[in-house]
Amino acid sequence: MSPDNGKLLDTPFTRQVGIEVPMICGAMYPCTNPELVAAVSEAGGIGIIQPISLTYVYRHDFREGLRGIRKITSKPIGMNVLIEKSSKAYHDKMVRWLDIALEEGVRFIITSLGKPDWVVERVHAAGGLVYHDVTERKWAEKGMDCGVDGLIAVNNRAGGHAGALSAQALYDALAGYKLPLICAGGIGSEQDFVAALQMGYAGVQMGTRFIATRECGASETYKNAIVAAQEQDIVLSERITGVPVSVIATPTVRRLGLKAGFLARWLLRGRKTKHLMRTLYTLRSLWQLKRASLDTSGDNDYWQAGKSVAGIHAIEPAGEIIRHYATAARQR
Ligand SMILES: Cc1cc2nc3c(=O)[nH]c(=O)nc-3n(C[C@H](O)[C@H](O)[C@H](O)COP(=O)(O)O)c2cc1C
Repeated sequence: MSPDNGKLLDTPFTRQVGIEVPMICGAMYPCTNPELVAAVSEAGGIGIIQPISLTYVYRHDFREGLRGIRKITSKPIGMNVLIEKSSKAYHDKMVRWLDIALEEGVRFIITSLGKPDWVVERVHAAGGLVYHDVTERKWAEKGMDCGVDGLIAVNNRAGGHAGALSAQALYDALAGYKLPLICAGGIGSEQDFVAALQMGYAGVQMGTRFIATRECGASETYKNAIVAAQEQDIVLSERITGVPVSVIATPTVRRLGLKAGFLARWLLRGRKTKHLMRTLYTLRSLWQLKRASLDTSGDNDYWQAGKSVAGIHAIEPAGEIIRHYATAARQR
């Protein structure tokens, strides 16, 4: 095929957000640290801040953390707003973080879960953009009713909370909405990146690939486990958060099994108990995942990763990954 001089890289997403490479480093609890966000944005993609990771794992004051990123790059950065209204204290905290991010010049927000109406209202008033994570049409329509500007299509190969549909099936389900569509899940090589853009996606969101980078604050043990893992080593486990999360099938994961216990499942379903159970699960999982991501001993081998491990063969600088992927897209 002949070089297309970057046509694949020039998409509605890059034009809207003002970046050079249609690549998002997705928010990752507990792996997103300021250095990773800054490195991705500086190299022409866009890094997304995960506020709980920034403040709880990496112990930054939220505003100071953003200013730290600004010392490394002046290019666009984004923030993840996880919508969870069951706890008022959590909701109020997220509203405050969003307001600080807008005050500090962040203009690209990715919402996950729930109804993003209050986020869209605040971000649009500041002249920014909101993209919404979706796994199927129903959530896309909910997001569009709230006025979101783009959709992140989370497929069945994604790290974190995976969807149920393949990248192609999700594209076919969502392309008719005429919003920029980002492919999230399973991108771990230059070929995967090019294939997603050729499918018609306006960009990709990658998580797992960016954990195995020099800048990511996760332990070398965790990064090496990603490099060593094969696609068949990735399983969905309910043991940590109560809903299926994509993890590496390490000895601990195999020993614990993949299903939540009977009592936990029953309490998670109960009308009166489910909010309390979710809160308990969330608090426990935040602590466990933080410990597992930073511990270098290998004893806490509870590591989230997606099937994109198949294409990841080395720990590399984030900027180099972006440059190699962009070069591959230019040569198509
Ligand atoms: C360790 C890990 C943590 C994640 N945490 C979050 C999160 O806090 N918020 C979110 O919206 N998505 C989260 N995700 C999803 C990513 O932002 C991204 O959509 C996903 O990793 C893409 O799939 P990939 O890992 O195959 O590249 C997480 C993914 C991973 C691997």
